[in-house]
Amino acid sequence: MTQNGSGTAVKLALRQLLDRCRAGEMSPALAVMSLLLATRSAARAAMALEACPDAPDSCLDEMRRLLREHRDGCARIEALLAQEPDGAGAASATEGIARWAGFFDAALARSPAASVALYSLGSEALLAEATAEMAALFEAWDLLGPDRRILQIGCGIGRFEAAFAGRVGEAHGIDISPAMIAAARSRCAALANVHLSVCSGRDLAPFAADTMDLIYAVDSMPYLHLAGPGLVERHFAEAARVLRPGGDFVILNFSYRGDAAADRADVGRLAREHGFALLADGVQPLRRWDGRAWHLRAL
Ligand SMILES: C[S@@+](CC[C@H](N)C(=O)[O-])C[C@H]1O[C@@H](n2cnc3c(N)ncnc32)[C@H](O)[C@@H]1O
Repeated sequence: MTQNGSGTAVKLALRQLLDRCRAGEMSPALAVMSLLLATRSAARAAMALEACPDAPDSCLDEMRRLLREHRDGCARIEALLAQEPDGAGAASATEGIARWAGFFDAALARSPAASVALYSLGSEALLAEATAEMAALFEAWDLLGPDRRILQIGCGIGRFEAAFAGRVGEAHGIDISPAMIAAARSRCAALANVHLSVCSGRDLAPFAADTMDLIYAVDSMPYLHLAGPGLVERHFAEAARVLRPGGDFVILNFSYRGDAAADRADVGRLAREHGFALLADGVQPLRRWDGRAWHLRAL
C-alpha cells in the first residue's frame, strides 16, 4: 500500500496500476481503490486520472468512469481512511480489539459495502461481483458442500454467509463489531442455516472441538495482527482445535505489512506448529481483489 501522496509518487502508482489493469491482472475498480490508497483523497485521485497523458483506452476510460460514478462512495472511503486507528498504538490486545470494533462500527455507518471492502468503491453491485469471484475460488478449492459446517472469523456484513448458505449445511459468522453482526443478521434474516454472533476477538471459545469443516478469514487476519501480539497465533491454535481432521483453514490476506515473504514465512511456521498442510501459499488468484490467499488443511 503506497501512502505517499506526492505528485511523482502518485504518477508512478497510476502508471503501475494502468500496466496491471491493461495486463488483465486487476480490475479497473481495484485500480481505482489502489489509487485512492496512494492519494488518500478522491479529489487527488480524480486529478491524477484527468492529468494522465496516456491515450484513452478501456482501462483509463473505465477508471475515470468508475471514479465519476462512485464519487460519493470514494469520498466515504477517503473519510474511512482518515479515521483508521493507529495500528501500533494499542497497549494490549483487549484495547486493540476494542479500537477496531469501534472503527468498524463507525465504518459501517458510513458505507456498508466500503466498510468490508474498499474495492467496492461503496457500491453493492461492485461488492457483489467481487464476492462472486471469491465464491468461485471457494468452489474451485472444493471448500463447500451440503454437509459442511463452515465458520468465518470477522464476517462483517455477512456477504459470504448470504452467498454460501445455499451451498453448505451450516454457515457460522463471528465478528467483534456489534454493528456488523446486526447488519449481517438483517442481510441473512431469511436464511435458517446462518448463525451469527458477536465474539471476543481473542479465540473461538464458543465452538467445540472437531466441529467445523472450514474456517476462513477474509481480510480480518490483518486486524488480529494489528490488534496485538499473540492473537494470530492463538487463532491458529483455535482453528486446529475446532476443525475436524481434514478440515480446511483459508486465509485471504494475512497482514497489511506489505511483505509477502514475511507473511509466507509466518504462515508456514504457524502451519507446521499447529498441524496444518499448506495447499496454497500466498497466491494471488483474483482480479477484483489483490490480496494473498492461503489454503491450509488440518492433518
Ligand atoms: C475488512 S472487514 C471484512 C469483513 C468480511 N470478512 C468481508 O470480507 O466482507 C474486517 C472484519 O473483521 C472484523 N474483525 C477485526 N478483528 C477481529 C477479531 N479479532 N475477531 C473477529 N473479527 C474481527 C471487523 O470487525 C470487520 O468486520
